[in-house]
Amino acid sequence: MSYVKEINLRNFRNFKELKLNFKNGVNLILGKNGEGKTSILEAISLCISGSSFRPGKYDTYISFDTNFSNIKTYFKDDYLNSDVEFNFLRDKKSVLFNSKKISINKLQKKNHYILFSPESLSVIKNGPDERRNLIDELLKSFSLENIEVINNFKKSLKSRNKILRDFKKENITYDEAINILNSLDELYLKYASELTHKRIEVINQITPFIKNAFQYITGSENVDIFVDYLISSEKANEYSLQTVKSSLQEKRATILKAEMALGSSLVGPHKHDIQFLFNGSDSRYYCSQGQQRALILAFKMAQIVYHYGIFKKYPILLLDDVMSELDETKRHNLLNFLKGINAQIFITTTEFDLQNQIDHSSLSVYKIVEGKIFDNNSTGVNL
Ligand SMILES: Nc1ncnc2c1ncn2[C@@H]1O[C@H](COP(=O)(O)OP(=O)(O)OP(=O)(O)O)[C@@H](O)[C@H]1O
Ligand SMILES: [Mg+2]
Repeated sequence: MSYVKEINLRNFRNFKELKLNFKNGVNLILGKNGEGKTSILEAISLCISGSSFRPGKYDTYISFDTNFSNIKTYFKDDYLNSDVEFNFLRDKKSVLFNSKKISINKLQKKNHYILFSPESLSVIKNGPDERRNLIDELLKSFSLENIEVINNFKKSLKSRNKILRDFKKENITYDEAINILNSLDELYLKYASELTHKRIEVINQITPFIKNAFQYITGSENVDIFVDYLISSEKANEYSLQTVKSSLQEKRATILKAEMALGSSLVGPHKHDIQFLFNGSDSRYYCSQGQQRALILAFKMAQIVYHYGIFKKYPILLLDDVMSELDETKRHNLLNFLKGINAQIFITTTEFDLQNQIDHSSLSVYKIVEGKIFDNNSTGVNL
């Protein structure tokens, strides 16, 4: 398994210059609000996936009053060492893997991470786009083929939307629009069906793991968890690839006029929803906030177990400020779960006494104070 051994930041957010060595165990990052805890996880996530989990363009990474930013991360594997370097200038960026240029798609295959954050724990009550994203991130982490399926669909949706928009703006005639759409739609429906079916497959595979994890984290054995994939509010978990395609084709025929009037595509995986059922009821309406958070926590835990099943190694786990979101039982059960996972784990918190609750054979503590790091390897620093 690979883990982050060292990270160097220059002009990255509030850090002018920072070097950190990490261990292959639990790395606990303590600091008051605004000290840069999330920024450290953000830099790690960038070097793993090529993009940040925080919204915003990359020029937001560059420290105020400077015009470039650099991140260099050293990974250690069982056999190999590697490094990933990002350079951000205001109008361009570059990424290097072992000092050679690499595409983001290729970088994404090297290492994986799973993020737990307060935002990610609220996806049940948020919009369907975040729930779709949860599944797409899951898909992306498993294969280059999945990344391609997602990218193909996105590109094809963009071209289709452009035509619909052009028609709405009267840049093209009705006949021109219909002609172009007819020629685009074979491929559009192919990619749309492929992505939809991939999502259905992965949801069906991961659901039993979510149920187990939910029972584990909440300590309640009698709760049944199911995850429905909804196409136009209809449950599609049993659909084959062909059934998905026929259903999208049918919908396309009936809705084309509305799409043209609106100027955007209404048929496809960007309109589908994912519903988490708690004992048969939609968790969005029936579950408490704590139960909703526990469901997503269980989803992430399931993702870790599922990931291990595929790769026979664990992804790097980033837990950004989530402990304060959980009650004592869930916090205790989550820490217990993590104890059994042979992964590199980063936990950030403002609660300085969390270190006393973590019982792990390898625990390193880092405290950030005014942009400087004190760790439990430094001498003379009282944590
Ligand atoms: N481009 C930038 N240049 C300089 N400072 C920045 C930049 N972008 C963000 N910051 C600042 O960096 C600081 C660190 O933010 P970060 O979100 O990492 O803190 P945090 O320790 O996670 O805080 P919290 O506990 O509130 O989540 C903040 O004060 C933020 O305003
Ligand atoms: Mg933060």
